[in-house]
Amino acid sequence: MADNKAWINALTAGTAVVAVATVVCVWQRMQGSTQTTRTTRHQALGLLHEFQHAAATPLYVLRQISEHMAVEMRAGLMTEGKSSLLMLPTFVENLPDGNETGLFYALDLGGTNFRVLRCLLGGREGRVLKQEYEEVPIPKILMFGTSEELFDFIAKKLVDFVNREGDEYKPRGGRQQTVRELGLTFSFPVKQTSVRSGVLIQWSKGFLVADGVGADVVALLQRAINRQHGPKIEVVVLVNDTVGTLAGGRYWNEDAMVGMILGTGTNACYVERDLPAHANSSTGEMVINMEWAGFWSSHLPRTYADEQLDSESVNPGQAGFEKMIGGMYLGEIVRRVLFKMAGEAALFGDEIPHKLKEPFVLMTSEMSKMHADESSDLRVVGTILRDVFGIQKTELPTRRIVHDVCDTVTLRSARLAAAGIVGIFKKIGGDSWDSPHLSGTSKAVHHHSRVTSTGVGAGKTMVAMDGGLFEHYIQYRIYMQAAVSELLSEAAASRLVIQLAKDGSGIGASILAACHSKYR
Ligand code: BGC
Repeated sequence: MADNKAWINALTAGTAVVAVATVVCVWQRMQGSTQTTRTTRHQALGLLHEFQHAAATPLYVLRQISEHMAVEMRAGLMTEGKSSLLMLPTFVENLPDGNETGLFYALDLGGTNFRVLRCLLGGREGRVLKQEYEEVPIPKILMFGTSEELFDFIAKKLVDFVNREGDEYKPRGGRQQTVRELGLTFSFPVKQTSVRSGVLIQWSKGFLVADGVGADVVALLQRAINRQHGPKIEVVVLVNDTVGTLAGGRYWNEDAMVGMILGTGTNACYVERDLPAHANSSTGEMVINMEWAGFWSSHLPRTYADEQLDSESVNPGQAGFEKMIGGMYLGEIVRRVLFKMAGEAALFGDEIPHKLKEPFVLMTSEMSKMHADESSDLRVVGTILRDVFGIQKTELPTRRIVHDVCDTVTLRSARLAAAGIVGIFKKIGGDSWDSPHLSGTSKAVHHHSRVTSTGVGAGKTMVAMDGGLFEHYIQYRIYMQAAVSELLSEAAASRLVIQLAKDGSGIGASILAACHSKYR
């Protein structure tokens, strides 16, 4: 019994020793892991600061970029191929004035969806009497097929849509009764040869269609429409989406001078009065499609993530500005930064989460939700990290780093877009435009001075803007507006109004079709 007791005592003592040893060990391991976590987080913060530094857009950099934008605009207008901006004449010399009447169609192609719409215009009093549209996703496979396959798909949907035209749209008499006139919004770089023809320079925004470059896009669509043997549809005007947006903006507001897209891709157009000889205009004005996606300047704050993204893209060396700004790319830039942090600083643990390796898995819409997360524990960030990358658990400091990466990428994009806008105004208005002493009506850039239907008001100049980044990403807008204000004098900033022209590119194209109708 005594032996037993001694044995039990010894055993208990032994267990206690083992238990103590285990506790010490676990504690040491915990200490170690806390230490490691701290070290890795410290490393991740270091990487974040490096990235923030490389992506920074202080005022002096923005000024250089806006100056350079104006310089490149002049160079591009003067000589073909001498600028990173294509500065394409659009042959649009007259923008709508509200007097347009009749039924017109538009087809808006330029992203992963296209849109068909019909619009019944009632002149100055009636304006847009009725409109209807349908949005159709483009099957991914067609983005990598042939132009014939792509246009046949689009033409079929268009013809189906026209066939569903209700009686309330039916034109009363005239040749319009049989022919449906259509404005084609085509949001890729096109060298126009007239207002209703133009050859595709290159595909962009992830489209890798095997052919089409060098072909007349209106002819491609018209042939596809004719192959449908459906109602008679005639393409009467070809416009870039920026031009459609400007036309849509001008329809309501004669102060609209610039059309701009901040969406999947990005671009701007504007009314130019100082035209080069090759852009013949009977009115002395013409809308110029800048194709600023390709803008390049050594002042642009380019990071390793931009370089990688570009070299692995379907169009390396092209659309450099768009790849820093466009909605197609912002989420992907964030993913690349997080991937580096995961690999070099174990931001999400010892293993790099599998999904984090997948290009374009983080959509900009998801990234903007993380950015907009105002909860004290950043729980939306946590949820999106889990849903998109399969990262089950993260700590708050990690989520903060992710949030800061989103902020940095968005801030840079919005500020660069602002520098671009100011660059345009420098070009069309000269330096005098930014003088705080000028009254609105004497500005070089300004043609009109009356209070307009949308209340922009006398002495203002309007940028008609469309695109998801501007429309849905509140913080983006705030950053962009703040940068415009930083770049301009207070008086000039107050004269520049950036206004959402929602879905303007489609409606604008149908209104431009009215302006260029063959049956007027
Ligand atoms: C295209 C432009 C277009 C812009 C916005 C760019 O990728 O090159 O033509 O206006 O995207 O959609």
